[in-house]
Amino acid sequence: MTDREAILARHSVRNYTEQKIEADKVELIREKIRELNAEGTLHLQFMEDAGNTYNRLLNRAMGLASAPSVIACVGPDGEDLEERIGYYGEKLVLYLQKLGLNTCWAGTFNQKNIGAEVAAGEKLVISIAVGYGQTPGNVRRSKTLDQVAVAEKEMPEWFRNGVEMALLAPTAINQQKFEIRLKDDDTVEFIDKGGVFSQVDLGIIKCHFEIGASEE
Ligand SMILES: Cc1cc2nc3c(=O)[nH]c(=O)nc-3n(C[C@H](O)[C@H](O)[C@H](O)COP(=O)(O)O)c2cc1C
Repeated sequence: MTDREAILARHSVRNYTEQKIEADKVELIREKIRELNAEGTLHLQFMEDAGNTYNRLLNRAMGLASAPSVIACVGPDGEDLEERIGYYGEKLVLYLQKLGLNTCWAGTFNQKNIGAEVAAGEKLVISIAVGYGQTPGNVRRSKTLDQVAVAEKEMPEWFRNGVEMALLAPTAINQQKFEIRLKDDDTVEFIDKGGVFSQVDLGIIKCHFEIGASEE
């Protein structure tokens, strides 16, 4: 499965089967996390047993309490931490999709129950539920290219492809509050238009855009 195929297949999944993630996959996930943590200077952690991470009423009502495992998204506190979590966390989400797993980013969770290691100077930003979904999830409504992209000239195909993949990115409450601007010199600017977890969203958007824009 290519990155593009993983993007097309991914949807937020909130209802999971009881099937645990197999030991060989757990090892691959841990290995991938080591790689991403080194690259992004992060402290992402795979919690094989999600325990009571999703025992809040809202999570239970949405089904997330059924997730067998969870990723705790932790990193050194700093200005761009949330964006880096979004960018590298989404790389992990797409990797999990390729392993046949389903995921859901979740800002609502029980910070105490997740059991993550949060060292001095570090911050626990968000969680990602992971497991085998009861279904692969659903296609949801989306803004259009014209609603999020602005260009100072005719949009080249690589730019359109990038925006197309960005529109398939998960954003908190599906807010899609971002703008992608193409400058005359072919540089691209990503604008955060606010909202809850919008910096995490922006990192996720950049990850998807890069995949779309680098297609052959
Ligand atoms: C930063 C972030 C936080 C999110 N928090 C939650 C959450 O707390 N609970 C939940 O059920 N879904 C949460 N989601 C999932 C979004 O609702 C979902 O990505 C969005 O509706 C788009 O749907 P899709 O992921 O299927 O494309 C979150 C997504 C992101 C990116």
